[in-house]
Amino acid sequence: MARDDRANFGSKLGVILASAGSAVGLGNIWRFPFETGNNGGAAFILIYLVCVLLLGIPIMIAEFSIGRHSRANTAGAYQRLAPGTQWRWVGRMGVLTGFLILSYYSVVAGWTLEYIGEAAGNGFAGKTAEEFIDSFNSFVGHPFRPILWLVLFLLATHYVIVKGVEKGIEKSAKIMMPVLFLLLLVLTACSISLPGAGAGIEFLLKPDFSKVDSTVLLNATGQAFFSLSLGMGCLCTYASYFRDDTNLPRTAFNVAAIDTLVAILAGFIIFPAAFSVGIQPDAGPSLLFITLPNVFQQAFGSLPWLAVLLSLLFYVLLALASLTSTISMHEVVTAYLHEEFNLPRSKAARLVTSGCILLGIFCSLSLGVGKEYTLFGLTLFDIFDFLTAKIMLPLGGLFIALFTGWYLDKQLFRSEVTNNGTLKFAFYKTLVFVLRYIAPIGIAAIFINELGLLKG
Ligand code: TRP
Repeated sequence: MARDDRANFGSKLGVILASAGSAVGLGNIWRFPFETGNNGGAAFILIYLVCVLLLGIPIMIAEFSIGRHSRANTAGAYQRLAPGTQWRWVGRMGVLTGFLILSYYSVVAGWTLEYIGEAAGNGFAGKTAEEFIDSFNSFVGHPFRPILWLVLFLLATHYVIVKGVEKGIEKSAKIMMPVLFLLLLVLTACSISLPGAGAGIEFLLKPDFSKVDSTVLLNATGQAFFSLSLGMGCLCTYASYFRDDTNLPRTAFNVAAIDTLVAILAGFIIFPAAFSVGIQPDAGPSLLFITLPNVFQQAFGSLPWLAVLLSLLFYVLLALASLTSTISMHEVVTAYLHEEFNLPRSKAARLVTSGCILLGIFCSLSLGVGKEYTLFGLTLFDIFDFLTAKIMLPLGGLFIALFTGWYLDKQLFRSEVTNNGTLKFAFYKTLVFVLRYIAPIGIAAIFINELGLLKG
């Protein structure tokens, strides 16, 4: 496809918003808290922060450079930069990863729609923590309801991808993101003032490194990749629509900062509330959905209209934040099918949507009627999460680091990072060092350690 045929993001803010829109989503508000809870709290968060700084930002700059220089979908990008080599498999693995994540991510995104309905009907009023757990479990285990929402969510994603209403999304994100941020601040204040919230704050701030092992390291790495939308060519695809004057390192810093802030705030909402009402921090994927209604119920019980208003606002914003993330994953797969197989965009999108609906249905059922069908004790939903976030994304990141650190022409990479020498980037040498040595060795060491433990 000719360079000029491809769309571009309109403004500098548009670039940051689109990338931040991809990054901020269920990964921050749903997955970060439950991974933190599963991995012991404060120590995990510290390791996570190191992962974002040391692996996340450099690999994001690498993905941006690959995408903007090649102006192609992620598999096409490697073909252009490394024709005739096997590097194209990195792009292809990314496409597969995106497809798999989108399938199970949409299940959870669908749950947010059910909770919009609950919030609108003041469904949280007067319930106890136990009742929230029961109603979540019976909803998720229901054979049709979650599937209905999942299909609806994927159709909404499909609509945006086909109609190309990104411009509308770009504009609404300008309002949506700050409102979401403010609301998170309000909810944090509510949560930390609940009785007994102190134990939750301690859980978030007092690291206990005695429980840190290679599994915790792998989980933190995986979470960093998942939350920053890295390791599968998602931001690489977005960068193929960036303008030539976009400052790549600065965009990467901004996106990582916004994303991390949202995740930390989510932690400060979930854990004080969970400890306050006696919900186990390691409740897993249900954590957000069984904890948060308590905050609305407890903090605003005496002001039902405010409870309805704020909870509705929260779930609508969460659904929209998830939508900007599902769009970015869908785009990776659609752009690949469209550009590599010459399918019309609408047909490519239809294939992706139907495939994800099918896989998503199986993932959703695996939490209810299909609960008994497990592999290594994991449901299909858990397998998708484990395989993508903990194996495929870090592996993708490892190859992206190797590609830019060792294979890619130095001059080319440097001129992408500095916009042809017009920008100063003081950390260029550090960036190259990290991509050449720290990231590949670090990720490989974590994998090798994990395998060793699995055998032992
Ligand atoms: N980062 C998004 C979130 O936190 C999810 C997401 C979008 C993603 N695109 C991705 C995860 C690409 C991994 C790879 O919700």
